[in-house]
Amino acid sequence: MKDEIVNGIRPDCEALRTDFLSQHALIIAANWGPVIFERDEDGSLHFQHVAGGLVTALTSVCHYTDATWITCAQTEADAAWGEGHIPLPESGHSIQVQFLSPEASAYEGYANVIANPLLWFLQHSMWDVPRAPVINRATWRAWEDGYIAVNRLFAEAIAHQVRAADRPGLVMLQDYHLYLTPRFLREKLRRRERPTVLHFIHIPWPGPEYWRILPPAMRRLILEGLCAVDVLGFQTEEDGLNFIRTCESHLPRASVNYKRGRIWYRNHATHVRDFPISIDVATLRQEAESPEVAWHRSEIEAMVGDQQLILRVDRSEPSKNIIRGFRAFEEMLELHPEHRGRVRFLAILVPSPPGVHQYPNYMDELMAATGRINASYGDSQWEPIRLLVSDDYPRSIAALQCYDVLLVNAIVDGMNLVAKEGPIVNQRNGVLILSERAGARQQLESGAIVISPCDVYATAEALHQTLVMPTEERRRRAERLRWLVEREDITDWLCRQLEAVSELNIG
Ligand code: F6P
Repeated sequence: MKDEIVNGIRPDCEALRTDFLSQHALIIAANWGPVIFERDEDGSLHFQHVAGGLVTALTSVCHYTDATWITCAQTEADAAWGEGHIPLPESGHSIQVQFLSPEASAYEGYANVIANPLLWFLQHSMWDVPRAPVINRATWRAWEDGYIAVNRLFAEAIAHQVRAADRPGLVMLQDYHLYLTPRFLREKLRRRERPTVLHFIHIPWPGPEYWRILPPAMRRLILEGLCAVDVLGFQTEEDGLNFIRTCESHLPRASVNYKRGRIWYRNHATHVRDFPISIDVATLRQEAESPEVAWHRSEIEAMVGDQQLILRVDRSEPSKNIIRGFRAFEEMLELHPEHRGRVRFLAILVPSPPGVHQYPNYMDELMAATGRINASYGDSQWEPIRLLVSDDYPRSIAALQCYDVLLVNAIVDGMNLVAKEGPIVNQRNGVLILSERAGARQQLESGAIVISPCDVYATAEALHQTLVMPTEERRRRAERLRWLVEREDITDWLCRQLEAVSELNIG
């Protein structure tokens, strides 16, 4: 179904972006907005752009048309600013941002009881089921007065924008915070007012068995919500198939067609597709040439000296499997002592942005593991693991330029964009060790060394194998990875979604 791609650009993409988008009123809805406001000491408000895969990808969509972005206020300053235009100087377009301000208790239930812990853990297969989750009265209250209420609020705001628009609406909903919004939106609008709804899910979708953790009423409302979408996008084919299987098991009146990737429910067709998200290769390359990156690079080179560098760059989050990564490094030092003193493990840990559930003990556990390994194997001349906690993107890019081995061993990950950024900026023919459960595996496995994330022994052996890999094989793998990322970059992600909408002739 895919067109031939030349130098990463699909031939019909330009037309889709300019014509198709300009014929529609684009409305994005996501828990996170493109900017976050802060209040200065003198009381004035100023904003900062928000980093992260989801926001970067969607902001790039707004470079092609004036869009409205509906989101939840994350700060008091967001709520005070309320609504207005944020210019995008690079493209001459702007984003009309609208912050919703649910009651604090509703937001708490929606984000910090249901979405971030309950759904995130479920979809990352991380619940320790004999002990957790405990779904009690407070959880049910958070579901009713938080998750349902905030999803209704989104649906109302979107319906208002759709009615006010002078063109047919194209609504791009994002992720696990807004599973109920599509059905509420359909219920609010008359048939002829209804927009085309695309919902993209950035995180993995596990099989039907795992969804049994949720009580049937919650599970059902989530599936009914998503079966009101026109095009439902996942990161990988497997996630999409898991969704269809989940509907088949848990939504009795749904009729599913695996071959066509389609679900009929209540007289409505939902088309299930995979749109692997990616990075903006050209912009990343530009950023990699900045003086700031060069400065950090010399700092990192001085730190590493003539040793080899194993690198990881992650949000400090349990699903990234950081501690098993350290254990694998420790096991490698045990099994292959010739690496002692000759390799360093640099872990750059990026704190989660505001509004994302923080895991207080996780950082302590990470530090304890690092301290123990450094004490056992290091000495005054050699520190085996260096932990840097920082949200300094230029420094992360600089480190990515310098790795010999990039470790991405997530327990499970929707995509993992570091696995795509690394090969683009790296200058040492670095090798990627990639978890078989990261979405990026679907595209990158032919260039990476794939490991099973819980298998510390195999990860240790993979670290050794990559450190001693012959130069020619390293070069071949690095070239392959670069090519794979270049041919399906962020433009492709957007175009495949627009293509799916236009091909189905429902726009
Ligand atoms: O879709 C963008 C993305 O960053 C994915 O790469 C990732 O799996 C998902 O969203 C979750 O985000 P995070 O990288 O913060 O875990």
